[in-house]
Amino acid sequence: MSDPTFKAFRIHSADGRKVEPRLETLTLDDLSAGDVVIRGAWSSINYKDALAATGVGRILRSFPLVGGVDIAGTVVSSSDPRVAVGDEVIVNGCGLSETHDGGFAEFARVRGEWTTPIPAGLDARTAMGLGTAGFTAALAIHRMEQNGQAPGNGPVLVNGATGGVGSVAIDMLSRRGYSVTALTGKTTATDYLTGLGADTVLHTAALDMGTRPLEKALWAGAIDNLGGDILAWLTRTMQPHGNIASIGMAAGIELSTTVMPFILRGVNLLGINSVEAPRAVRIAVWNRIADDLRPAHLDDIVRHEISLDDLVEAFPAYIDGSVIGRTIVRLR
Ligand SMILES: NC(=O)c1ccc[n+]([C@@H]2O[C@H](COP(=O)([O-])OP(=O)(O)OC[C@H]3O[C@@H](n4cnc5c(N)ncnc54)[C@H](OP(=O)(O)O)[C@@H]3O)[C@@H](O)[C@H]2O)c1
Repeated sequence: MSDPTFKAFRIHSADGRKVEPRLETLTLDDLSAGDVVIRGAWSSINYKDALAATGVGRILRSFPLVGGVDIAGTVVSSSDPRVAVGDEVIVNGCGLSETHDGGFAEFARVRGEWTTPIPAGLDARTAMGLGTAGFTAALAIHRMEQNGQAPGNGPVLVNGATGGVGSVAIDMLSRRGYSVTALTGKTTATDYLTGLGADTVLHTAALDMGTRPLEKALWAGAIDNLGGDILAWLTRTMQPHGNIASIGMAAGIELSTTVMPFILRGVNLLGINSVEAPRAVRIAVWNRIADDLRPAHLDDIVRHEISLDDLVEAFPAYIDGSVIGRTIVRLR
């Protein structure tokens, strides 16, 4: 194909610390190397994108890079035999906006290994309505179920509940028949969370977390987006053989607990890494997202649709934790 010029949200840094994001006009030759070129249709915002573009977190390992950990669109060239021109594909994670130019651009050049075909029943827009957040929620449920989680075991707690991962996790779990307790810092979000399928909504400020190594056993499962004290409390309040999926660190990277939940209650702490999931796992999980984990309320979760020009103004709400639901980014 002739080398097009296109718009990209690119993050620079003069000193490797302070970041300077800006919209630029690029050509394919400016992008990181890859064997597949995608004409982007949609991307989305995840917490990590806000960390990267504001410099609050050190996400990029080299500069400059196009931001955005997600992209969905149409393959326009490929030398990977598994990927054909015209295929509709998703790339989420895989080093986008960390070590490789990412998805906030009209074109992306990636490795064929990173692409997942958009499953029947989803399109590029719905795929990015879910994005890394939805994929990670599904991967967590998948791992928990491989480890014995089932609706009959008892309630599953989801924290960071109004965020992207939390919202989608509540929707997916509820649709699968789980009883879901949402834990949120927002006292005004109860209707939103019950609308997604939460049976109970708890507010962080009202929690009595106790201090004992083992507190009353409450949860059969948990999806943790926060880390820190809340994750420590979860370890202390899990039912025997319960699974905690450790996804995020929006509240902290520390974990202060004891071995008691693990050796006396057989609690499982499952690490979830969406970035480096192998291709076969990605395909299996995306296929589940289009099938038994398909969210029922994605239209309520995707609350903002923006363009590349609007990105900079969208990030602060992610950093201060005031965001609700998901934001998708139109690329063409
Ligand atoms: N392991 C992986 O592969 C993976 C993949 C995706 C995301 N993540 C991580 O998972 C977490 C959630 O991601 P996301 O995209 O859903 O983020 P998000 O949309 O920004 O939502 C995060 C939510 O966490 C709560 N929160 C934010 N800051 C907080 C703070 N300082 N203290 C307590 N609660 C806070 C808020 O929910 P409430 O107000 O409802 O409490 C917020 O809406 C992030 O840490 C992200 O980096 C990890």
